[in-house]
Amino acid sequence: MTDNNLPDNIEPNATSHTLDEANKIPKHIAIIMDGNGRWAQARGKKRTRGHKAGVERAREIVETSGKLGVESLTLFAFSSENWQRPQEEVSYLMELFVIALNREVKMLNKHSVKLNFLGDTSAFNNKLQESIAKAEHLTKDNDKLRLNIAANYGGRWDIVNSVNSLLQENAGISSISEELLDSRLATSHLPPLDLLIRTGGEVRISNFLIWQAAYAELYFCDTLWPDFDANELQKAVDAYAKRQRRYGKTGEQVQADGDE
Ligand code: IPE
Ligand code: IPE
Ligand code: MG
Repeated sequence: MTDNNLPDNIEPNATSHTLDEANKIPKHIAIIMDGNGRWAQARGKKRTRGHKAGVERAREIVETSGKLGVESLTLFAFSSENWQRPQEEVSYLMELFVIALNREVKMLNKHSVKLNFLGDTSAFNNKLQESIAKAEHLTKDNDKLRLNIAANYGGRWDIVNSVNSLLQENAGISSISEELLDSRLATSHLPPLDLLIRTGGEVRISNFLIWQAAYAELYFCDTLWPDFDANELQKAVDAYAKRQRRYGKTGEQVQADGDE
């Protein structure tokens, strides 16, 4: 430090730190699965082919997450803003969700995956709503991996929805604490978000888990979603393991907390 006006006892932080093994695997990973359209277009194919390839990748990432010991995996499949896409693409995605759900649910159940949807699924057609209800019911007692599909999900919707639930439950409520608001979010039953991954090169959150990401570790990569394989997930988890989560404290404080 070159500023001589600073008192002597302020030193630059030491950067080395240790993490115990258990903290190296994130308990809750969320992924913005972006880049399907560009993946297909780069191959001279229709965008919808990218979505199809994306489903195959999702299957691989679910399997790998289970093997890594991740407790909760949240995949952003369709945002509340994605309705604005061309009608043909939206319809294709709805069909794809039904087909993929009906096809995968038995395998998920066999591996004791508990499936839940986050978002306003009441906007979906009856066929899709029925597939969702059936899949959630079939897997409700499973306890290996929690797989959460964010569909017609928006972070702002989630917050407003939580506040509205609280207002309905407590007429005349005059203030809301962070804990109370948190308790009515779509993710309230899940461990706190540890790692938020976005594939596809864009560096933005696109109205995903905006409240929950407040202290999540962020990981952005250029790999398009249909190319994001088990090895890519491992790279993200390795990067996470090297991070020091300080939550406003100094590095030394965190290290001392860990040594206790
Ligand atoms: C993400 O891939 C999938 C959904 C939003 C359903 P995109 O379809 O956004 O792919 P790009 O970003 O256009 O390449
Ligand atoms: C975010 O991707 C939504 C999903 C991955 C489901 P988008 O492709 O819709 O995000 P923007 O529009 O580029 O921000
Ligand atoms: Mg996109």
